Amino acid sequence: MNAKTYRKLIANQLSQDFKSAVEIVEIPIPKPTANQLLIKNKFAGINGGFDTLLCRGDVPYINLTPPFDLGVEAVGKVVAMGEDVEDFQMGDAVITTTRGGGYRQYQVVDANNSVKVQEATPEILTLMLTGVSALVALEQVGKMKNNEVVLVTAAAGGIGHIAVQLAKLAGNHVIGTCSTKAKTDLLTELGCDRVINYRTEDLNQVLKQEYSKGINLIFDCVGKQVFDTCVENLAIRGRLVVVGFISEYATNIEQITQQRIYHQLFWKAASVRGFLMPHYQEYAASARDRLLNLFYNNRLRVAVDPRKFNGIESISDAVEYLLSGQNCGKVVVRF
Ligand SMILES: NC(=O)c1ccc[n+]([C@@H]2O[C@H](COP(=O)([O-])OP(=O)(O)OC[C@H]3O[C@@H](n4cnc5c(N)ncnc54)[C@H](OP(=O)(O)O)[C@@H]3O)[C@@H](O)[C@H]2O)c1
Repeated sequence: MNAKTYRKLIANQLSQDFKSAVEIVEIPIPKPTANQLLIKNKFAGINGGFDTLLCRGDVPYINLTPPFDLGVEAVGKVVAMGEDVEDFQMGDAVITTTRGGGYRQYQVVDANNSVKVQEATPEILTLMLTGVSALVALEQVGKMKNNEVVLVTAAAGGIGHIAVQLAKLAGNHVIGTCSTKAKTDLLTELGCDRVINYRTEDLNQVLKQEYSKGINLIFDCVGKQVFDTCVENLAIRGRLVVVGFISEYATNIEQITQQRIYHQLFWKAASVRGFLMPHYQEYAASARDRLLNLFYNNRLRVAVDPRKFNGIESISDAVEYLLSGQNCGKVVVRF
């Protein structure tokens, strides 16, 4: 290995938008200690919403003081390792999901916190955190069954398109929302039973007209009015999983005044449940195995957004791109 230094993206100050909070720094490549791997990252997943909230200081369970490292999931190759590492070899493809480990060219991690995979591709990367989150949210929080009506919002996005397929594989009728013809086509190819392009159809009207008994399970990534519509259309004993609220990530949080939410839930015995992957880590390993199995048996497709983002300097644009709502599938940066 000839390189002596590498580059990474850090948040140097808290700021409303990602771009003005971050800075690229160049530092020496560290040596792995006894149980560590040195990994050369090949791809990292872009989590534009989480990244932006982190840079605003709006992630209550983390509360970081700048400067701090950014990015989470990455896939790369082992380029050096400590003398006590046993289960890895040079050149192995590995996934890491350490906070701060994504937006950098190299990282050292404990071998225990790395997962060996067959190949260092953006598809495998997408499965390992985004896919795992979709599966755990549907099953552990949404208590997904079969023969139910499941609604996924931002359905053509990174997590949404996996959720759609998992809900179909479980034997449900799946509705997906999105905003373009290309996304509608992707969702139809993935087996979505009813795609609602909310720019050409009214979500609330379609749900009321076509699903008069309501929706049993809702996987909501969007928030705001979409969340309100979701709550309104829950079935008796329906479950709404709050996966995220991307419509508020690029703007200030909207303050609202209305009746307390139990007025809408109580009479239907419905529920709204928050989901945050870090609080469900005990399910990650088995979810990973099941997703890889489905993927390698061609039962699950991974859509990676075709827009190319190359290198550390492209990460701010990738975050902006994701928050602009244009992406179809998972947004990744390649190094
Ligand atoms: N809770 C967890 O542990 C966890 C884990 C992973 C992801 N998430 C959450 O899941 C959601 C999706 O994340 P992702 O990274 O996979 O992103 P993504 O879904 O790939 O990308 C965002 C998509 O959201 C849709 N969207 C709808 N309304 C939007 C708006 N007002 N502004 C911007 N986009 C809008 C856009 O598609 P259309 O408008 O065409 O639908 C856009 O393509 C986020 O809320 C994220 O925080 C949560």
